[in-house]
Amino acid sequence: MHTQLKESQSQGGFRSEMRPLPQELASPILVSERLVLRAPEMADTNAIAHLANNMNVAAMVSRMPHPYTPRDAENFVARVSTGAMGKCVYAITIAETETLIGACGLEAHDSGRGLELGYWIGEPYWNRGLATEAAQTLIDFGFRHFDVDYIDARARVMNIGSRRVIQKCGFQFQGTGMAASLALGGMVAVEWFRLDRKTWGSLRNWGGAR
Ligand SMILES: CC(C)(COP(=O)(O)OP(=O)(O)OC[C@H]1O[C@@H](n2cnc3c(N)ncnc32)[C@H](O)[C@@H]1OP(=O)(O)O)[C@@H](O)C(=O)NCCC(=O)NCCS
Repeated sequence: MHTQLKESQSQGGFRSEMRPLPQELASPILVSERLVLRAPEMADTNAIAHLANNMNVAAMVSRMPHPYTPRDAENFVARVSTGAMGKCVYAITIAETETLIGACGLEAHDSGRGLELGYWIGEPYWNRGLATEAAQTLIDFGFRHFDVDYIDARARVMNIGSRRVIQKCGFQFQGTGMAASLALGGMVAVEWFRLDRKTWGSLRNWGGAR
């Protein structure tokens, strides 16, 4: 199956056409074993710019400019606070140190039946399971609090790390397509994955049974 994907402003990943989440879907603070997911703040802009100003990050998400300046981070935080990027956008922070390490979020599909998951982690923090932990926390929140049937994720075909995160969250491959990349100034090949509510529930019960 091939899908033509349209770009949208987002905190990570490659998106099909999205709309902001309704007001009532505002984002509470989410806590996991090692992480606290909270709304990004103006005080975070230097940390965001420091981590986001990296082509290894920008080339893997749809709408991250490169180079990425503190001004870009201010725009990002401002857009999140006004709801222009949807209500469910989080700074990912280490619980113990409060260090900001990345961002993630959920956006509503136009159908109203699904959400799109996106995330990025600063390169110094890769390969410690932190994206997976953030994604699973957000997925649990998404299915528990929103009346949706599925959550989608998209990653560049070459993005082995993100595909692994998506696999570890239980998503199933749906198809391939093309999506715009702001940093690369063109279209890139992406893979599309979906986690439906029943599969998520089954995985949660399975984990609990162990
Ligand atoms: C993709 C990204 C979010 C992963 O973050 P992370 O915190 O390193 O992810 P995790 O540690 O939870 O999982 C990464 C997995 O990929 C694996 N991996 C990473 N690079 C790999 C590679 N080149 N080959 C094989 N496996 C690789 C890791 O070993 C790990 O799997 P494991 O737990 O089975 O060992 C991070 O690299 C990133 O932000 N990249 C740039 C932005 C981006 O790609 N965002 C996602 C857009 S869809």
